[in-house]
Amino acid sequence: TPRVLSGIQPTADSFHLGNYLGALRQWVALQDDHQAFYCVVDLHAITVEHSPEALRRRTKVAAAQLIAMGVDPERSTLFLQSHVPEHAELAWVLSCLTGYGEAGRMTQFKDKSAKQGLAAASVGLFTYPILMAADILLYSPEPGEGRVLRVPVGDDQSQHLELTRDLGGRFNHRFGETFVLPEAYIPQGAARIRDLQEPTVKMSKSASSPQGIVELLEEPGPLRKKIMRSVTDTGTEIRYDEESKPGVTNLLRIYSALDGASVAELERRYTGQGYGQLKKDLAQLVLDTFTPIKERTERLLGDEKQLDRILADGAARAGAVAARTMEVVRERVGFVGRG
Ligand code: TYM
Repeated sequence: TPRVLSGIQPTADSFHLGNYLGALRQWVALQDDHQAFYCVVDLHAITVEHSPEALRRRTKVAAAQLIAMGVDPERSTLFLQSHVPEHAELAWVLSCLTGYGEAGRMTQFKDKSAKQGLAAASVGLFTYPILMAADILLYSPEPGEGRVLRVPVGDDQSQHLELTRDLGGRFNHRFGETFVLPEAYIPQGAARIRDLQEPTVKMSKSASSPQGIVELLEEPGPLRKKIMRSVTDTGTEIRYDEESKPGVTNLLRIYSALDGASVAELERRYTGQGYGQLKKDLAQLVLDTFTPIKERTERLLGDEKQLDRILADGAARAGAVAARTMEVVRERVGFVGRG
């Protein structure tokens, strides 16, 4: 069976609609016919200044939301990155294979560091994509005919996936076939959900205003309001047009991803109707999807013991795979074994 691996940062009190449509929904779908490894990347979450208390809370909420969404801890290995120290160890080895200039070309680092000022950015933020490469390559199946490692992500991660493939390929070339090169698994249509207030930029935990972002754990009232107040465009026609109607286009994309109807079908369905009707129906669609997830998340957070057990079990399973990969890596790189 092919493998799937993905990760998400616990950097907010709730996941958002972009995370859900761009990535998490695919996590759930892929576990049916893949051997799945899903990871809450708490090491990544400290690359920017953070509060330890908030990190602890958000990490648990993140795990609970994933289970609530349908990640099945029996079938899939769900774990915390910091529980498997091999992630940091492989990241070190890979960082020694990464060119300084190569790392400097990562656009997400450029964006994030520009925001806080380059001098204030941590070295961890700079090497972040290398840790991500380690997250992925650790779960590489043994190389061979037809071996596959899929990584469901939104399209903001595709450059990091390219780097991962480059580093995996470089390691293989220097030290012998070790890693299967991962394939990005990016959904059509929902690869980049936009901010509701600024529909030309992506919806983002770190950059969006609260009004621009739809949270999974949000109360129904405020959620409806946000969608009703989302920025639309001049004119009245409900039509997909990235250039001149980015707001309506974003809403149509979200609608289509949740409803299953194609954008063309939706344009037909809403002919002659106003933006208000579209927004009202969309808000209901989002609530129908999120409400049960929110309720299950709250129930799971009520039983911390059970959550801890699930994560301990996931750490043991992930750790066994990671340990095997690292043994091969250490040997290939030339480290002397402990005997
Ligand atoms: P993160 O935590 O920022 O986001 C989690 C996932 O959500 C996707 N996403 C979006 N998709 C569509 N539209 C949006 N507006 C949107 N915003 C976020 C992201 O693409 C991502 O798939 N570096 C990663 C975490 C990571 C990882 C990994 C992912 C660490 N190690 C290994 C895969 C494999 C990140 O910061 O995602």
